[in-house]
Formats: sequence, C-alpha cells, structure tokens
Amino acid sequence: MSRPIAATIDLSALRHNLGVVRRCAPASRVFAVVKANAYGHGVARVARLLAAAGVDGFALLELDAAVALREAGHTQRIVLLEGFFDAGELAVLARHRIGTVIHHAAQIAMLREAPAGIKLDVLVKLNSGMNRLGFGTAELRAAVDSLQSYPAAGVPTLMTHFANADDARGVAWQMAAFERAAAGIVLPRTLANSAAILRHPQTHAEWVRPGIMLYGASPFADVSAAQLGLRPVMTLASRIIGVQPLKPGDTVGYGGTFRAAHAMRIGVVACGYADGYPRHAPTGTPVRVGDRLTTTVGRVSMDMLCVDLTQLPDAQVGTRAILWGDGNPIDDVATAAGTVGYELLCALAARVPVVEQDAALIKSPAS
Ligand SMILES: Cc1ncc(COP(=O)(O)O)c(C=O)c1O
Repeated sequence: MSRPIAATIDLSALRHNLGVVRRCAPASRVFAVVKANAYGHGVARVARLLAAAGVDGFALLELDAAVALREAGHTQRIVLLEGFFDAGELAVLARHRIGTVIHHAAQIAMLREAPAGIKLDVLVKLNSGMNRLGFGTAELRAAVDSLQSYPAAGVPTLMTHFANADDARGVAWQMAAFERAAAGIVLPRTLANSAAILRHPQTHAEWVRPGIMLYGASPFADVSAAQLGLRPVMTLASRIIGVQPLKPGDTVGYGGTFRAAHAMRIGVVACGYADGYPRHAPTGTPVRVGDRLTTTVGRVSMDMLCVDLTQLPDAQVGTRAILWGDGNPIDDVATAAGTVGYELLCALAARVPVVEQDAALIKSPAS
C-alpha cells in the first residue's frame, strides 16, 4: 500500500469547461493555455483531451513542451507566449511549426537575420497598459510593418493581455489603447484571457486564450467557479493516517501555533507542503473529510497537516480527505491561504501520483 495521496484529473470536467469557453465565445477560435504543465494538470494529457474535443491551438511558453506537443502529433497552432529568447531557437520553431509572440525590437532584429527559408507564425504583442511584455502603442505599427516586410514572418496576429479583466477596473481602458494603436491594421487578434471571455464579450475577437477556466477555477474573487458553470478538473485527495485526542491546552504541530480551547479530536492527513499544499494556509483552511467540510488546525508541515475531527465522529484512520477539488473548491482553499487557485494548481509536486478519470465514461452504460 503506497502513501494515499493522489491528484485525480477529471477529463470530463476539462471537456465540459472547454464547452463553457465555446458557449461564451462562439465565434472565436480557442488557444488553450497549457503553460506550467497545463497549470499542474499535465500538458500531454490536457492537450490530448482538448485536441480530441476540437481545440484550435495551444499557448504555452516552454519550448521543450511545445516541441513535445508537435512530436505527439498535434497539428493545431502552437504558440510561445514569451516568444523566443535567442536566434538559435528560430530553426527549431520553424521545424516544428511553433509560433512565437514578438514583443520586443530585439526579436524583430533576430528575425530579420533568420536563415533563408524560415517562415514563422508570429503574434505581435501590444503593451496596452499592463506594462509587462509588448510594444508601446506608438511602436506597434512600425513593428507590424517591419514583420510584414520580412520573409521569415507569416501573417501576424495582434495580441494584448489584460491586467484587470477580473476586477472593477475592467478592460475598457486597455481596449481603448489597443484600438488606438491598431487603428487601420487589419489582422486577426487575440486579446481575451478567462476573465475577459466570461465578462467582456467585446474582447473575444478571432482567438481567445482561456487558461484557468479550462481547469475549473474562477478568475474572479467574487464569483465562484460553480456560479460560472465550471467544474473542477483536479481533485487533490489523501487519507487520514492518524487520529489524536486533544485536552484543553494541548497544541498541534510545529511551533504549537494552535492550542485547543476544549477537548478535541484531530486527524493527521498525509499531505504537506512537499506535495504542493501551501505552508502558509492558516488554521481554518477548508478540507473535506468524508462527505463533510472541516478545517485545518495548526501549521502545515512538509508531509502532513492536521484537521479538526471534533464534529466528525465517524472519521478515522483511512477516511478520505479532499484538500481541493470535488466538494472543496480550490478557490476557497486559495482564499483562506491568501493566494489564488492558479498558484495552488501550478505548485502540485512531482511526487504526487496523478490519476486520470473520465466521469462521462464511468457513467456510460457501456462501461
Ligand atoms: C498571455 C496570457 N494569455 C492568457 C493567459 C490565460 O489567463 P487565465 O488563466 O487567467 O485565463 C495567460 C495566463 O497568465 C497569459 O499570460
């Protein structure tokens, strides 16, 4: 019997969430954002499922993963969101038909010197106000003009990224900057991340770029994934491997940060920060034990964390504990821990076994 922790990836939920993207942006093609190992879900597995479900492209930033997608036989558009970093990569991009974001004059200069015969899928990124990557509004036209004059560049796609699509500031200010910079440039566009797909239909354009919503977490602080019709793809679950009775005044774990005010019963769950659970999750972070929600108590350690079983008399060694996912939304765990679902998903540790399940197949009468 191995350590009882595992992350289950529900392929039917992934398929369902792609359907939500399609319903929100029916006229757009979809780049599934699969960077960071598909937000911790496994890029090969996620790409296989989404390709079968008809996704139009993949966006990521790790060149080796992009090449692996091509070698796995995916024929869709594949693009690198940070682009290339030196001219030596251009031949690899061309050989594997991997597209690149162009966000800086140095990349244009490298493209000008590209070996003859190379033709690349290019996306020209405008910095419309986030002040991360991209050409300034006054530079966009010149960047597009130079690219269009180089044999190495295919027809560019215009791109920008929103800083506030998920909050009250919204996208209008960045859309205005984009429209100003792109006036008169008739090229396909890709603008929208998950929050913009869900909340700002005017951003949808030719290609959308959903990430977090595909994985079934909410991009919004004030709207749950369930309210958005999304289903969690990853469930991180383990089991209780120890039970301790506490007397009033007893403390729990390193530093004794939790002290029992009354008699309690706590369970020790085989999951810690070396599995990707956030060490900074405070006492009170939700955990589902059996079919009930309870909370963590005390400090999360490397391999274990403790949960309050005082109101769960049936819970014992062997009872299942869901750290996030099914019945314990990752966004609630993230909020309690002062972070976002994105960070928790990406942090899933390599030592956690990953199991695939397809609820649609399990439920099918033929199975
Ligand atoms: C350029 C770009 N586009 C799209 C996305 C997807 O964003 P989200 O996961 O919020 O949908 C990201 C993610 O950070 C990104 O960096």
